[in-house]
Amino acid sequence: MAQIAPSVLAADFSRLGDEIRDADSTGVDMFHLDIMDGHFVPNISYGPAIVDAIEKTTEKYLDVHLMLSEPGNYFEPFRKAGADNITFHIEVHPDPTEPAKILKHMGLQCGISLNPDTPIDAVLPYLRQFDYLLVMSVHPGFGGQKFIETALNKISVAHAYIKEHKLHTKIQVDGGVDADIAPRVVNAGADILVMGTAYFKYHNRRELVEFIHGL
Ligand code: DX5
Ligand code: ZN
Repeated sequence: MAQIAPSVLAADFSRLGDEIRDADSTGVDMFHLDIMDGHFVPNISYGPAIVDAIEKTTEKYLDVHLMLSEPGNYFEPFRKAGADNITFHIEVHPDPTEPAKILKHMGLQCGISLNPDTPIDAVLPYLRQFDYLLVMSVHPGFGGQKFIETALNKISVAHAYIKEHKLHTKIQVDGGVDADIAPRVVNAGADILVMGTAYFKYHNRRELVEFIHGL
């Protein structure tokens, strides 16, 4: 069963608590929390205080995506704020072994992400160490962008590698994913679909969740 992780970046921040409670009630599997530093990506989003407020509003799993140049400086603040998983980018840690060890030692799950221009081979040798592989299907920094098709092949290659090596790593896809694209990314091998705009702007969120769970 495919899972859905709404990206909170696309929520109405003037009603964030209501948005989280509403999304929680539609049966989403986790929340995807995009943290941006205005340096690794050309945008600034929100910090540990907002994650803490979200953690107080829902029991759902919190999947924190660090788009930061120095992610290791923020592992502890986001763990304290309630993160269940922390994902960081291979572009800032070409050998992600050390940060992965630190996250596991902190009792967190860990994910590795790669941008559209980064080849999938950059992450394959390290997947054994990770609970999640986050395949970016947009250039990170903003919601509402168009899905980049090259993500499909990366998902398939990663899926084959994970199967061949009997790894437990789950594949997430992130960026521009909507109801039309969802079946294609699941067929390619994605387990968890991050959906920001497509979820929060959808006319019937529960219907969308049931559709994704049916894939
Ligand atoms: C982009 C973020 C994504 C984005 C997804 O940098 O990592 O999680 O918020 O939003 P949509 O689904 O609107 O592309
Ligand atoms: Zn994200």
